[in-house]
Amino acid sequence: MKILAVSDELSRGLETLIVNDPQKLDDIDVIVSCGDLDTEYLEFLVDGMRRDFFFIRGNHPLENSGEYFEPQKAAFSSRGVRYVAGQPDLHGRVAAYKNYLFAGFGGSMWYNGEENQYSESEMAKTVRSVERSIAWYRLRDKFLGRQRKELVVVSHAPIANIHDLPDRPHKGFKCFKAFMDKASPFLWLHGHIHLANQYTNQISTEGPTTIVNVFGCKIIDVSRKSIQVTAHCYIGS
Ligand SMILES: [Fe+2]
Repeated sequence: MKILAVSDELSRGLETLIVNDPQKLDDIDVIVSCGDLDTEYLEFLVDGMRRDFFFIRGNHPLENSGEYFEPQKAAFSSRGVRYVAGQPDLHGRVAAYKNYLFAGFGGSMWYNGEENQYSESEMAKTVRSVERSIAWYRLRDKFLGRQRKELVVVSHAPIANIHDLPDRPHKGFKCFKAFMDKASPFLWLHGHIHLANQYTNQISTEGPTTIVNVFGCKIIDVSRKSIQVTAHCYIGS
C-alpha cells in the first residue's frame, strides 16, 4: 500500500503534479490528511486523483481557509459528523481498508477553548472508544477466519515526547503513548508540528511503530520490508 499523506500546509508541487503529470501518482492507493488543511484543497486532491480518502481535522476549523483558496464553505456536516469529499471524519473511529485498520484522532491539546481542542482526559476517552472498535474488528476477523489487519493511526497532534514541542498547543498526548504501547500500530501519521520546509522528513521508531510527521506532503510506501517515506517533490525527478 502506498499512502499519499498531507497535513498543515498546501503543497503547490503536488497540485502541479496532479494537473500536469498525474501518471506519476498512479501507484498511490489512498490519500490521508492529518489535519489543518482547507476543505477545498482536500476535495481537489480527491477529485483529481480519484482515490480512497481518510481525514481528521486539526485544531483549526476546516472552513478557516488558508493562503490559497477563498473561504467558501465548511465541510458538509450530518448528525454531528463532518464529511469531506464524501468521507466522514475519522476522529474517534476505526475503518477497515484492504488489510489494514485506520484509526483517527483529530484536534490538539486544549489551549484556548476553541473547537477541536481536547484535555488529556477527553482524548483518553476517545482512545478507549477506538480501542473497543479495534477489539471488535479483530474479534470479527478472527471469527470469520480472516487475516489480522495491521493498524495505522492518523492523528493531528503528536504523541507525548515524540516530535512534540514544549508549548501547550503543541504538546503531545500521553494517552497516545499508552495506546501505541498497547495497540502496537505499525504506522502512526501525525501533523501539527511545522518543520523548516516540506522536504524535511521527521521519522521516529518506537518498538514496532514508525512515526511520521507528515507536514506538507509525504508518500509512505508500506509494501516493502521497511517503510519508506518520500517528500513528494522527489517523484520522478
Ligand atoms: Fe495544528
